[in-house]
Amino acid sequence: MKGIILAGGSGTRLYPITKVYSKQLTIIYDKPLIYYPLSVLMLGGIKEVLIISNQETIPLYRKLFGDGSSIGMQIQYAIQKAPNGIAEAFIIGEKFIGNDSVSLILGDNIFYGKLDFFYKAVSSNKKGATIFAYQVKDPQRYGVVEFDKNGKAVSIEEKPKKPKSNYAVPGLYVYDNKVIEIAKTLKPSERGELEITDVNKYYLERNELYVERIGRGVAWLDTGTPEALLQASNFFGVIEDRQGTKVACIEEIAFQRGFISRTKFSILIESLPESPYKEYLKNVLNE
Ligand code: DAU
Repeated sequence: MKGIILAGGSGTRLYPITKVYSKQLTIIYDKPLIYYPLSVLMLGGIKEVLIISNQETIPLYRKLFGDGSSIGMQIQYAIQKAPNGIAEAFIIGEKFIGNDSVSLILGDNIFYGKLDFFYKAVSSNKKGATIFAYQVKDPQRYGVVEFDKNGKAVSIEEKPKKPKSNYAVPGLYVYDNKVIEIAKTLKPSERGELEITDVNKYYLERNELYVERIGRGVAWLDTGTPEALLQASNFFGVIEDRQGTKVACIEEIAFQRGFISRTKFSILIESLPESPYKEYLKNVLNE
């Protein structure tokens, strides 16, 4: 299973924060936003990741993660020339995906809690597509999935004015290899984008779409507005301060999940500048 983080887009809703800075590099408490989606892929057991973004931002991601080898990963980069839609990720990522399945996460999506739902979807590697459904109070802002009485998904709509349920589709998707060909057949929507919802509809119509509901114990946080960014920062600030642990600490995850050995972890820690982050990792090593 390969992983893609789509981290481009114009981010205009967050102007002027995004005037010179990509949205996915804004800070959520003590680390850049993109650490959170990257850590989700890692917790799903995915080691090969493609980061897609615009030309100006790719060098900054490269500076953050390099080729990924320090955390036992293979991280590659690709440019999306314009925000032509989420589904374009599979066309841009065709070579990278090769003959494998692929998980896509949007670079501004944060999940916190027991992420077994994702791990299971990745490890079962089913034919078809697995997406998730999360209850929200404002479903009209998202892709919305409707279920029948038996809990089977019967429709998906992108930002419907009159949502048929309160279940939004988060920006985390697991697809078989067909997704590349499906993406190539799509036509731009009214807003001029290749819609991920159209990909999901394609699978739904062929009875190959699995929709797993994510329970209330998991937090799926919004990052679309300054208020949401502040809330997310406060949320992780409270948790990290109370527990003395870090969320989305990619070096810790790499060590705990066996992506890197103890020796490599200790070399990695030594290479970091003196900081509370380094001290934290030293504690993880010595625990
Ligand atoms: O967050 C989940 C929602 O994401 C889903 O419920 C929707 O079905 C899906 O369409 C998407 O909704 P948005 O329209 O709100 O997505 P947005 O345009 O904000 O883009 C999401 C992220 O993907 C954002 O960080 C920018 C990045 N992006 C987006 C597009 C369209 C790209 O990198 N390239 C793109 O072409």
